[in-house]
Amino acid sequence: MSIGILTSGGDCPGLNAVIRAAVLKGITAHDLEFVGFRNGWKGVVEGDTIPLGRPQVMGISKQGGTILGTSRTNPFEGGGAERVAEVMQEQGIDSIIAIGGEGTLAAAKRLTDAGIRIVGVPKTVDNDLSATDYTFGFDTAVQIATEAMDRLRTTGDSHGRCMVAEVMGRHVGWIALHSGMAAGAHAILIPERKTTMDELTEWVESARSRGRAPLIVVAEGFKLDTMDDAHSERGLDAFGRPRLGGIGDILAPEIEARTGMETRSTTLGHIQRGGTPSAYDRVLATRYGMAAIDSVLEGHWGRMVALRGTNIVHVPFEDALGRLKTVPQSRYEEAAILFG
Ligand code: F6P
Repeated sequence: MSIGILTSGGDCPGLNAVIRAAVLKGITAHDLEFVGFRNGWKGVVEGDTIPLGRPQVMGISKQGGTILGTSRTNPFEGGGAERVAEVMQEQGIDSIIAIGGEGTLAAAKRLTDAGIRIVGVPKTVDNDLSATDYTFGFDTAVQIATEAMDRLRTTGDSHGRCMVAEVMGRHVGWIALHSGMAAGAHAILIPERKTTMDELTEWVESARSRGRAPLIVVAEGFKLDTMDDAHSERGLDAFGRPRLGGIGDILAPEIEARTGMETRSTTLGHIQRGGTPSAYDRVLATRYGMAAIDSVLEGHWGRMVALRGTNIVHVPFEDALGRLKTVPQSRYEEAAILFG
């Protein structure tokens, strides 16, 4: 039996650990064969594959990015299910393991509905996929953001400045919440909770009154109460979504104008998605990769592996689609007690 593996959508640390675990388990325990589709669904519709055996996956679980490459290509713009079935038949591929986020899984669902045999592995640094407690990549992103904030704090303290750290989080504030809590931020601004400049100014003033250099964490998708949409000034991405980034640079001069406190903003951007995965993410990704092999052997088409507590389970694609896993109000309020 030959299985095709693809990684699709934005990359994140841990993708290679999934690929390695699936290939190693498939070969050693079940004598399966693998090919890698290059650059996500693009490689599927173009029939662009690479060999995937033990030599290709040797030592890659600690490597960031994806050895297969990725893209945000939609397979339905390149021939859809008919073309995918044709490529699979030409290359003797029985089924596909698709590693990706909401866009990837939505395409996988449509293809499965049309008869293609696909199992999914959830992926997103934002940790916004429903039906799984955590996605790999998130823990690494939080670690990177926390380390960056620890550094921002020492330079902020030296100069007596307010420091604004902008992190990823298009629709949800999980990275901001966790890294902000870990770094002891004086305010955490997330997309789920609009905030006024008056509230923010109060938190900054309160920290300053205790002799602290305020640290404000803001998710890229955050909106002030005066904003209808998240700040975007860089056009659209390949999916037609606004490219975010820059809200920190909007807030910093406002804070400075209102408080008279010198304020600097730093956008962490793709640094959060690059480099070596944390041990937690490697373990989670490895467990997902191995569980995906069980799913293929058991014919769980149209389902993705997921984390429930400490157990790996499998759930229908539709459970992960249509509704994002946002930060609950209670988690925000819990953190907000320590703001200011
Ligand atoms: O969805 C993950 C994410 O990192 C978002 O937080 C961010 O808005 C987006 O991807 C950035 O995408 P790109 O890599 O295409 O710039």
